[in-house]
Amino acid sequence: MSLRERIAELEAELERAEARTAEEVERFRVSMLGRNGAITHLFDAFRQVGAEEKRELGQRLNRLKRDAQARLEKLRGGLDRTPQVRNDRGDPTRPAATGRLGGLHPITLVRQRIVDIFSGIGFSVSQGPEIEDDHHNFSALNFPPDHPARDMQDTFFVADAKDLSLRTHTSSVQVRVMESSKPPIRTVSPGRVYRNEAISARAHAMFHQVEGLYVDKDVSFAELKGTLDHFVRTLFGPDMRIRLRPSYFPFTEPSAEVDMNCTLCGGDGCAVCKHSGWVEIMGCGLVDPTVLANCGIDPKIHTGFAFGMGVERIAQLLYRVPDLRLYWENDLRFLRQFADGPFRS
Ligand code: DAH
Repeated sequence: MSLRERIAELEAELERAEARTAEEVERFRVSMLGRNGAITHLFDAFRQVGAEEKRELGQRLNRLKRDAQARLEKLRGGLDRTPQVRNDRGDPTRPAATGRLGGLHPITLVRQRIVDIFSGIGFSVSQGPEIEDDHHNFSALNFPPDHPARDMQDTFFVADAKDLSLRTHTSSVQVRVMESSKPPIRTVSPGRVYRNEAISARAHAMFHQVEGLYVDKDVSFAELKGTLDHFVRTLFGPDMRIRLRPSYFPFTEPSAEVDMNCTLCGGDGCAVCKHSGWVEIMGCGLVDPTVLANCGIDPKIHTGFAFGMGVERIAQLLYRVPDLRLYWENDLRFLRQFADGPFRS
């Protein structure tokens, strides 16, 4: 058989070649392109070809080799799919793999826990707008016209709306609730607040507060202290203690600052508690009679207490977060640490 005929025969053979297993593919490769393969042999025979046929047969032979390699790849590709299809079906009784679920933000988690504790002792939840007028954010709360909190330094004003600003505290919701309902009132108001502060590890221009308000007949300072004591022990554990220090707010009289044992050092003293063993967690007091009157409640009949706490601060003490900015950076390595229950990723 001439070289020309042998090439034609192998071309036809390539067309017909089939393989169902890796072994069959390998057998095809060895039989065609291996050291003793048919095509390899033809290259040996090609050396004897006379000068006049060399060019034409050389080209056909090279094409044959390329076709054989292409065929080999095709047979291999056909094989790759076969086991994949089987794997995809897999074991149908195997439990389904769950995808990654998101988690609640630590501030959301802590806000929910704070609200839950007060719900458990009869407080409702109320909300107010984040863009607030001067009356609800300041005047009704007994801030004198020249009070520094009204200053441009602290408050974000709404451009071209002289009376409007971003609320600087959730105490504004106290006013709205008292104006629109009659005692007894027991409510907590969680929400965002804004202050024109330079952002640092310890201060942010946007943060969260939970305001509390109780108005009824004969509400006492002892009830205020008992309520806050219950709150702190429920959230942080039964061994936690609070202490009240006299303070001043325009809307409460008397007023106090509430400290609790430092959770970061356990009372030994650290940077967060400024080596005192105590950390400040909120402000509180008996609602100033002027504020009750401003909101349409008769201070001769009713008294009340109020308190306001920062959610970031409580979260810092629960989770030992060293830098306020971490709450807003959306770094998944930070956020994943708080993923809880069904949201665990
Ligand atoms: N509104 C105060 C603040 O933002 C916190 C506060 C203090 C709220 C005393 C109160 C309170 O209800 O009685 O700093």
